[in-house]
Amino acid sequence: MNKQVRKTVIAGNWKMNKTPSEATALINEMKPLVKDADCDVVLCVPFVDIAAAIEATKGSNIKIGAENVHFKASGAYTGEISADMLKECGVEYVVIGHSERRQYFGETDQTVNLRTLAALNGGLKAIVCVGETLEQRELGYTETLLKYQTKMALTNVTADQLKNVIIAYEPVWAIGTGVTATADQADEGNGFVRAAIAEAYGKDVAETVTVQYGGSMNAKNADELLSKYNVDGGLIGGASLKAEDFSIIVKAASK
Ligand code: PGA
Repeated sequence: MNKQVRKTVIAGNWKMNKTPSEATALINEMKPLVKDADCDVVLCVPFVDIAAAIEATKGSNIKIGAENVHFKASGAYTGEISADMLKECGVEYVVIGHSERRQYFGETDQTVNLRTLAALNGGLKAIVCVGETLEQRELGYTETLLKYQTKMALTNVTADQLKNVIIAYEPVWAIGTGVTATADQADEGNGFVRAAIAEAYGKDVAETVTVQYGGSMNAKNADELLSKYNVDGGLIGGASLKAEDFSIIVKAASK
């Protein structure tokens, strides 16, 4: 973390978990536990939970995000949701290009870029995910891939729009597996992302961008991961479904 130059952001990614009533209950449990956070706290929830989550977080320091957004403003795209729709519901953030979407739903670097542009043009903050598979890591492609994914996602994003972008480095092999990257691996991966941003926008701009780590971050390892210079927060899956665990991560990010 380096709070002097960039924001620390802890974001939960609930994935396909929690009904609206369960969302309300979990948020009510979390609110008092994270109220003194010295970092931004975000919960990215399923579309159908958004209304309940916005209602439950009213007057609190928790912001609400969605887990995806379509790249067109409206039209014949059955099952999709636009940035305007999210914005009107009170959503502030949106996760884009999560590895599960890349793996199971045909998301590509091109569609990640289009969704990022749609989110930014629609006034949302984008949490853009990048990350290598175990095979790519073992072949020695981690740096090349992270830089490529980062630059592709940011194609045609202006330096001004970049202020509303967070990049989440999520090694695919660490997501939901219980295998966490070591703090040094997380710092290195986040450093590759920051270097790619520096190549595209300059070093000074790159220093101001929040780069999260995600992949089995939990109450036990958050402290060490967040102590690293390039780790400006976390995108938290499993541990964001438990109020106590999530609040411990928020506290680690509040130091
Ligand atoms: P995990 O998920 O914390 O359960 O590994 C992280 C993510 O997929 O964003």
